[in-house]
Amino acid sequence: MPSLLVTGGAGFIGSNFTHWVLDNTDATVTVLDAMTYAANEASLAQLPENRFQLVRGSVCDADLVDDLVSRHDAVVHFAAESHNDNSLAGPAPFIETNIVGTFTLLEAVRKHDVRLHHISTDEVYGDLGLNDPAKLTPQTRYNPSSPYSASKASSDLLVRAWVRSFGVQATISNCSNNYGPRQHVEKFIPRQITEILQGRRPKLYGDGLNVRDWIHVDDHNSAVWTILESGRIGETYLIGADGELSNKTVIQLILELMGQPTDAYDHVNDRPGHDLRYAIDATKLREELGWRPTYTNFRAGLAATIDWYRANESWWLPHKEATEAAYAAKGLCG
Ligand code: NAD
Ligand code: TYD
Repeated sequence: MPSLLVTGGAGFIGSNFTHWVLDNTDATVTVLDAMTYAANEASLAQLPENRFQLVRGSVCDADLVDDLVSRHDAVVHFAAESHNDNSLAGPAPFIETNIVGTFTLLEAVRKHDVRLHHISTDEVYGDLGLNDPAKLTPQTRYNPSSPYSASKASSDLLVRAWVRSFGVQATISNCSNNYGPRQHVEKFIPRQITEILQGRRPKLYGDGLNVRDWIHVDDHNSAVWTILESGRIGETYLIGADGELSNKTVIQLILELMGQPTDAYDHVNDRPGHDLRYAIDATKLREELGWRPTYTNFRAGLAATIDWYRANESWWLPHKEATEAAYAAKGLCG
């Protein structure tokens, strides 16, 4: 039974990955999480005690990381500061966790020769033009726009250097925008769903023509497991499921699925430096490793996500007020 150390496992994707691994494999999982504002312990409730434990601590704590890494077969590294708008308001924690944290982990896996899978984002490549037929590939030049994406790009480059210089056994994946249950209400889709549930109107940045390439979080999870099992060491895999949609289209679909008029949203101030479009070419992952997404109907996946937020108010409500207060302070409220 392999033992996995999952950093950032109390956040959105890490908690879904932990559930996925416990449901679909015989691995055990130790989550290392600093329990920042983005973590939610309720996301890890009722997991089997004989296969799961939560350790509270930072990926920047070298002694703790060294000890945990030495006692596991592999590390899947999700821990990060993950929100672009926060990185514009205060970049310092992004530099600390995303860059210094990844460095700390790399030194431990190097010392103990432990397999690492590093989770990253398509945002390291910067944006594509709205009418450009091109998609992002592993050969696309890094060109990050925000402090968040620059810090993730830095972490990717550290992983590549530790593979090349020290023979660290690592792989990297860069995934497009995830949606699904247990995503923090600061992010686009949960923010709009919970605004409507609270009787307010969704908030579209700028003209809303920006395009994101949506993938269900469990398709991301199955791809990460596939790479962990059969990815080639030192390689980068792009994860995406051909889910390109404009923000305006997504807001209109949320309104429709929630029984509201499709024009019942507000345009608010645009995000500075707002990337126009992301689109992933996942050919390498599909052809080399045989991965396929299962959530190919975005409308159905979105409807299930809306149902989850309706049914789990106690999960998100304690975070909602502070999130909206932070948006108001940033001028992203209308
Ligand atoms: P999230 O913000 O929901 O969760 C991040 C988790 O990391 C939280 O539980 C937080 O407490 C923890 N954390 C923060 N600083 C830490 C530290 N110093 N030590 C230990 N834990 C710490 O983020 P998410 O959306 O689940 O993203 C997870 C990873 O996936 C990130 O690396 C992100 O860059 C990447 N990613 C996210 C998306 C997306 O659409 N959300 C897409 C592609 C890649
Ligand atoms: P977000 O979830 O922050 O992810 P990312 O910045 O990593 O793509 O935002 C997704 C898109 O939605 C992005 O183009 C910004 C936009 N957006 C809005 O239009 N309104 C909002 O309230 C938020 C939070 C985001």
